[in-house]
Amino acid sequence: MSPEELLFMGFFSIYIPVGVLFRYLSPQAKKGTALSLGLLITIGTCGIHTLHSLCTVLGTWLLIRVNWRKAPPLSLGWTFLYLIFFRTGTWIGLPPPELFPNIIQLLLTLKMVSLAYEVRSYHFEKEKEVSSFSKSPMIGRLSHEPSLYDIISYSYYYVGLMNGIFIRYQTYVDWLEQTDPLSLPCKVPCLSRLKFVLVYAALALGVDFLFPVSYVRTDDFLEHNFFFRFFYMVAVCFAVRMKFYFAWHGAEAGCITAGLGCYPKGAESKPGCGPTVQYSPEPGALVEYDFRTIQNIDCYNTEFCVKVRQAIRYWNMTMQWWLHQYIYSSAPFRAYTLRVGWTMLVSAYWHGLDAGYYLSFLTISVCIAAELSMESCVRARLGAEGQKMFDWVHWFLKMRTYDYMCMGFILLNASDMLHYWSSIYFLIHVVAFVCIAAGRLMGGGKKDRTREEREK
Ligand SMILES: CC(C)(COP(=O)(O)OP(=O)(O)OC[C@H]1O[C@@H](n2cnc3c(N)ncnc32)[C@H](O)[C@@H]1OP(=O)(O)O)[C@@H](O)C(=O)NCCC(=O)NCCS
Repeated sequence: MSPEELLFMGFFSIYIPVGVLFRYLSPQAKKGTALSLGLLITIGTCGIHTLHSLCTVLGTWLLIRVNWRKAPPLSLGWTFLYLIFFRTGTWIGLPPPELFPNIIQLLLTLKMVSLAYEVRSYHFEKEKEVSSFSKSPMIGRLSHEPSLYDIISYSYYYVGLMNGIFIRYQTYVDWLEQTDPLSLPCKVPCLSRLKFVLVYAALALGVDFLFPVSYVRTDDFLEHNFFFRFFYMVAVCFAVRMKFYFAWHGAEAGCITAGLGCYPKGAESKPGCGPTVQYSPEPGALVEYDFRTIQNIDCYNTEFCVKVRQAIRYWNMTMQWWLHQYIYSSAPFRAYTLRVGWTMLVSAYWHGLDAGYYLSFLTISVCIAAELSMESCVRARLGAEGQKMFDWVHWFLKMRTYDYMCMGFILLNASDMLHYWSSIYFLIHVVAFVCIAAGRLMGGGKKDRTREEREK
């Protein structure tokens, strides 16, 4: 791990105790202190690069002020175009942004786009209320248009700054306005997140040490037999997964101690989104709470779910909600596979300009098409035992798809990536294309998705 990455991990260990202190503060004090702390961290870690985030925030605020109706697509255009400038600033002599400015900029991009949508929904609902003389339900809806100070506070409050978890503006406001934060049951959920973090960290460091990714770039690597080369990616990806489990569980624990994203279970919160139903418990009733809103990873299901499609839902869950809500839903295509491909392309661009992101994300779309094809043509025709076998093979291939893609994410550079993928004969691509072709031959590939798939 680089010193920057270690510092990044160090932040989480500070966030956890600091969060507890925030539960003692009044809403105004919480807002001011969280902002001050966030600004301190931003300026301390990003220096002059803080200006990038400031431009992004002010630009979005201006768009919302000038035209709230068109602010969502405009803010999407603004923040995503700004990412090009942010990443290519070195071409005009700007200093290259390092890890911290990059993380802040990426999360801010998601936050600003979502904010523009939230403000537009607020105005639409207001208009509906005026025309129908009735009040619409308040699920996930703002109570007033945020001021510039509100937007700056949301952009820089310390918890949502660089923990990798996307948090909506409404979730942030609900956090500020909690009536009795000290009564929230934070200890048990926090401990459940921290239970295995040291195990994840030890596994990540140990496996990373034994199987360094840099070795893949050497010519020596090609001297080994196929199985060594193939299973090397299994080890590398395992270390990466452990690193993310560690980081995201640590980040979730930091939110939990602060009480951020805590809602009654009855509100049926979803990661990233927050409550999905109106819930008001009877006075005096025992209320159970959860932190689903800030859940960013589901380790068990990431490891053991069967399909690539499902696996995507359990990984970086808050961002996946953002992509589903704002990109996939308004994709300029009707066919499922094209919509998935489009979403993956946007996701790759958001991650960076390196070829590795694009090749990996587009590979997932191909793998999803392959699994849909095999499910409708093969699995649907098997008996119970056959389906069980099919699912085991499917699970094994899902894990290898992770590994294969993960190499792209780590190697990033096209030549390194192709060097590795060619060393294992582009095996996952070959399997995926064979499955798609077989599906077509068996007459199932034409349909985009089976009815069963749609209903699941
Ligand atoms: C493109 C993408 C959204 C498609 O997902 P999918 O689950 O195959 O999409 P579907 O349309 O089949 O969704 C199935 C159901 O789950 C729902 N759903 C999907 N994601 C959801 C989410 N995050 N929250 C709530 N509901 C969700 C859909 O609304 C749909 O429900 P419906 O059938 O009642 O309409 C998904 O592949 C994706 O997010 N890709 C990008 C992944 C990525 O880049 N992640 C970040 C990596 S670091």
